[in-house]
Amino acid sequence: MEKLLVLHENKQYIDECADILNEEWKRSKSARLHSLEKSCDSFPTCLILLGNIDGVNTVVAHCRLSKVQGKPDSIFVESVVVRKDLRGKGYGKKIMLQTEQFVKRKGITTLYLSTHDKQDFYKHLGYTFCEPIVSFGVNTDHLPEGFLQKFLPDTTSE
Ligand code: ACO
Repeated sequence: MEKLLVLHENKQYIDECADILNEEWKRSKSARLHSLEKSCDSFPTCLILLGNIDGVNTVVAHCRLSKVQGKPDSIFVESVVVRKDLRGKGYGKKIMLQTEQFVKRKGITTLYLSTHDKQDFYKHLGYTFCEPIVSFGVNTDHLPEGFLQKFLPDTTSE
């Protein structure tokens, strides 16, 4: 069973995480590590999905959470990436669903993201197109475009 972990509480996985990100979005290793070292509870927060592959605890996916300007109940998700050789096995869906639960526990009601070519993946997970938003500390891997959002239903009374 995969576990969602906060990267800055599990720093032994930073190097592995940097390699997964750099395999998709090339940057120098030191710049990537520097960016991941900024993960903190008050945002940006990096989350990793830890799996067990061939008996070894392994980072299978990553995402990064930032605040949204003017929307204190919202979070912007970016740099969602599954390790290249592990794609198409459900890990992308798992990290997104577990991230939704993670932010809901913090009182967040809406997740935003932007993508230029993965709209169908996110639509499949219940995201819908929306107006652009401005997030703090956005990553420079890709410029925001094609915004989507998902309202997180309040299930605490169920
Ligand atoms: N288009 C439509 N549906 C898709 C796509 C796609 N591109 N990719 C996956 N799906 C569907 C699958 O068929 C599956 O459907 P099911 O639930 O009915 O079985 C479901 O979505 C879940 O698929 P996963 O296996 O979880 O997808 P995967 O593990 O490959 O993760 C991801 C998807 C994150 C996009 C991965 O392919 C990846 O890392 N790509 C490269 C990096 C990238 O582009 N990241 C997104 C950047 S945008 C952002 O960060 C907000």
